[in-house]
Formats: sequence, structure tokens, C-alpha cells
Amino acid sequence: MIRAASICDFYQSSDSATAAAVAAPFGASMERPTHASDGTGARDWHIPVMVAESQAALLLKPNARVVDATFGLGGHASAFLNILGQDGRLLGLDRDERALSLATTKFINEPRVQLCKARFSEIAEQVAAHAAFFGADALDAIFFDLGVSSLQLDDTERGFSFQRDAALDLRMSRDERVPSAADVVNTMDEEALANVIYQYGEEHASRRVARAIVEARQRARIARTLELAEIVKKAVPYSRADAGRIHPATRTFQALRIYVNGELDELNVGLDAALELLAPGGRLAVLSYHSLEDRIVKLKFRDAETRGFAILTKKPLVPGDSEIAENPRSRSARLRAIERPAVARPVSKNKYAHLAISRDDRGEELKS
Ligand SMILES: C[S@@+](CC[C@H](N)C(=O)[O-])C[C@H]1O[C@@H](n2cnc3c(N)ncnc32)[C@H](O)[C@@H]1O
Repeated sequence: MIRAASICDFYQSSDSATAAAVAAPFGASMERPTHASDGTGARDWHIPVMVAESQAALLLKPNARVVDATFGLGGHASAFLNILGQDGRLLGLDRDERALSLATTKFINEPRVQLCKARFSEIAEQVAAHAAFFGADALDAIFFDLGVSSLQLDDTERGFSFQRDAALDLRMSRDERVPSAADVVNTMDEEALANVIYQYGEEHASRRVARAIVEARQRARIARTLELAEIVKKAVPYSRADAGRIHPATRTFQALRIYVNGELDELNVGLDAALELLAPGGRLAVLSYHSLEDRIVKLKFRDAETRGFAILTKKPLVPGDSEIAENPRSRSARLRAIERPAVARPVSKNKYAHLAISRDDRGEELKS
């Protein structure tokens, strides 16, 4: 069995019975259309997005030390492991205990992998705790595949999808003692709710939606996804721009998910830490799925550029038509990558420093 470091006491998860139950169908292929036999309705598979592009962006070498900060069911990690040799090491993190429980079963005989339940904001302490596993305290590659997995979307107990009836929960981890989406919509005051829906969902009708939610909860507690979706649908004016493109509740559910899980704060802290953890020449690649995430990644990378990092994707890479046709969930994906300079550059307070040609100690030009 793969042994985790002492701070990863995840393996005693109460979900281990579920993991064992799905061990057989959870084979080599991530695309096998099976369902976990635990009554949640969840698929025990997830089609990883832009795998070849992510691999190429990370420039993995056989002995690379890698962190996959969003391990999920290990779809990307499986592909990365094909490149890593016997000396390669991969630490997989995820805040979702259920995903990790299933993944543990899959990677049980893989000594190059360790899995730990952790949030992005805990990445530095996780890497420090795994210095012996890595044989180093800096990394060659770090990968983030943001958002939710198919496992989460299909789980009827978590309410990530407003297309199916489920408890209005939206927490990525039940262990983290944070309020569920139902707690938020039933208790938050109207103005704060409107601000959350506007800020994290970019919903222009946020005030109307908040008003409708407050009116509805005065009649009865809003407990189910379909109830909330119906309330939002009635409140959002029919818009030609969005007609047929996205469900009227998309933005509100996105906002609640981001708020409940503190996703943007997590991303901000996690990216700062990840950039620091890279060894010279190490690479960070991030797949994001909506503009709020992508904007954070873009700004972090621009800021790192002023410290000598090289942005490898001036424009984000997007999936090809065939991938979108095969996996519609990939359609909003944006991949950005950055590399830590192999030779340290002097830190400059001049925000335009990255536009100037810089020279190292020997007076040689440094290329970006
Ligand atoms: C899109 S899925 C990753 C799928 C994975 N690449 C695969 O191929 O199976 C995103 C995963 O990131 C996890 N996640 C999201 N935010 C996180 C955070 N702040 N800290 C740790 N894990 C997070 C989710 O629980 C989810 O399992």
C-alpha cells in the first residue's frame, strides 16, 4: 500500500469501503463509463482535459519531482507517470476526501506516488513534509486543473449540478467545517448575497436573483438544487445573448460554489506558494475553466514575470475542436504555463523591468 507522510492520515477515511467497492471497475481507462456502486450516482471516471498540452507545458523529465495539486481521480497524473521513470516522484493533493479515497485504490501499487488530502493553501507545508519522498525541497513541475471533476458533478449528494435534483451542498470537502450552499442562501442577508452572486458569478441580474431567493426562503427553506435553479430561472430576465447558450442558473451556482469553497482565495495563495516552490527551470501549468480563475492566473504570471519568470503561453492554449466534440466539458478550458529562470535574476521594483534586456553577473544576456 502507498504510505503517506504522517500528516496525511487520510487513508483511514470512512469512505474506504466505497473505494474497495469500486476497485474492480476502476481500471486503467479513465473513460470507462461505470458508476460508483455507493448510491451517490457519481461516475468513478473523469475525462482529463488537454492532457498532451499539459504534459508538454510541464516539460516532464524521467526523474522529475512533480506536484499535481488537483489530483482528482488521477487522469492527468496517469499520463504524467508514463513519462516519469523509476526515479520520478509525484505528490497528489486534493481537498476532496472521496476523490482521494477512490484514487488511492487505483494507485495502490505505485511507489512513485503519494496522495494527501490538502488544499492549495497548504501546498508549501505538504511539499516540506514530503522532502524525503522527493529527495529535495524544490519541484520540477506543478500542475493545477481547477474546477470540479465529473465525480463531483455527478454526485447526487453534493449538488454541484443544477440539472439534477440533489441536496444544495456544493462543498468540495465535507471534512472542512464550512457552511453549505443551502446555509448560505437561507441565512445571508440580501445585499451580501447579491454581491456574492455578482462578484463570483458575474451575474448582472444579481440583485433580482438575491431578492427572489430571500422571498422564496421566507416561504420555506431552500434545500434542493432544482428548487434554487427554478427560483433563479424565474428571476433572471430572458437574455438574447445567453439564450440557448447557458442555463440561467449557471452563474448563480458558480458564484455559490466559489464562495462556499473559498476558491479564489485558495487559488491566489496556492499560486504564490507554487511559484516559490519551483526549482530553477521548473514549470507551473494551470488549467482554468472560467474568466475569474483565468484572470488570477494571468495576473500572477505577469507579476512573476517581473521577478524573472518566463511566461510560456503569451495567450492561453485552448482545446482543439476534436477534444471539445469528444468532451464538451473541455470547451471553456484555458491552459497557461510559466517557467522559473534557470539562473536567478536580480529582483527589481521596476514593474517594467521584464521589458528590458537583463544581464547576469557575468554580463551575459538572459533570455526569456
Ligand atoms: C477538474 S478536477 C481534477 C481532475 C484531475 N486532473 C483528473 O484528471 O482526474 C479538480 C479537482 O481539484 C480539487 N480542488 C479544487 N479546489 C481545490 C483546492 N483549493 N485545494 C485542493 N483541491 C482542490 C477538486 O476537489 C477536484 O477533485
